[in-house]
Amino acid sequence: MPRVNLLLFLFIICAAYLAICDHCCVINYQKLPRYDLIKTNWRSNQPIISRKVVSNVEKCKEFAASKRALAFNLASTRNRAGRRENTCQALQCPEDFNMTTLVPEANYRYYSMYPVFSLPENSTIECIPKAGMFVFSSESLNYTQAQSFCRKRNASLAHVISEERTEGLARFVSQNRPSFVGLSKNDKEGIWKNEFDESLSCFDYRAWGEGQPSHFKGCVALVNPPPAESSPPFWKVVPCYISLPFICEISPLSQQSSRQYRKNRHRT
Ligand SMILES: *[C@@H]1O[C@H](CO)[C@@H](O)[C@H](O)[C@H]1NC(C)=O
Ligand SMILES: *[C@@H]1O[C@H](CO)[C@@H](O)[C@H](O)[C@H]1NC(C)=O
Ligand SMILES: *[C@@H]1O[C@H](CO)[C@@H](O)[C@H](O)[C@H]1NC(C)=O
Ligand SMILES: *[C@@H]1O[C@H](CO)[C@@H](O)[C@H](O)[C@H]1NC(C)=O
Repeated sequence: MPRVNLLLFLFIICAAYLAICDHCCVINYQKLPRYDLIKTNWRSNQPIISRKVVSNVEKCKEFAASKRALAFNLASTRNRAGRRENTCQALQCPEDFNMTTLVPEANYRYYSMYPVFSLPENSTIECIPKAGMFVFSSESLNYTQAQSFCRKRNASLAHVISEERTEGLARFVSQNRPSFVGLSKNDKEGIWKNEFDESLSCFDYRAWGEGQPSHFKGCVALVNPPPAESSPPFWKVVPCYISLPFICEISPLSQQSSRQYRKNRHRT
């Protein structure tokens, strides 16, 4: 008898969990980003968002994450009393691929959410504070080709479902030359999704242009209208087979490991 009760209890708990927590919960559950040590006795000159005295590197990681910093410097300096103390400098952006703003300085350590990466041909790299690092390719490819271009470089077509991302990225999209981003819908699933398998319905933000989405399915391009139109940037549905420039989002270290995990899971 108690056993039946226990099973019933577990069943109710599971049903309640599934009812409350659909797949969107996974997206809203943000684990701590991963910051790795990139260089010792060097400091990045990227703009500092905030700083704090911390007891150790773990505390600095928590602080940087709370500020949504993409990188940080950890300095070990002597205070007025002559005692060593650690100062955490949360940085707005990590070092660029060529690390030109990294300067040698004793007792500093530079940490980043991003591995050291190289720049693909015919592209530029931009940092959107708090959002990430993005590669803008001037080469035109169709959507599936653009997807594999990004994947080969440990990146994905850029997630744009937030104001920060859509507005931030649009500043680098040339006018009258829309770029593919990571948002599409096919016949099979029939839902708009980003490249992380997250449904559009899991987010509140929308940037559809007038009359958009114009088609039941397709791929989304980010449009930066010329100033004369005084319209904010918007999303537009285009056929997936056309060739356009595109924007990849570089995967932070934490995603590169989970992507590997996901790949392995699919294989088994
Ligand atoms: C490093 O990259 C920046 C931004 O892409 C570029 O402006 C600069 O010329 C590069 N510097 C070197 C030495 O390659
Ligand atoms: C880069 O651009 C140049 C000039 O447009 C072109 O000749 C070359 O094939 C491009 N490289 C790639 C990898 O697309
Ligand atoms: C992609 O990430 C993996 C795992 O971190 C790494 O081994 C590989 O070198 C990376 N590839 C590129 C092109 O950066
Ligand atoms: C993109 O082009 C490739 C090569 O031409 C083709 O195999 C693929 O089907 C195209 N993708 C779409 C979505 O049209």
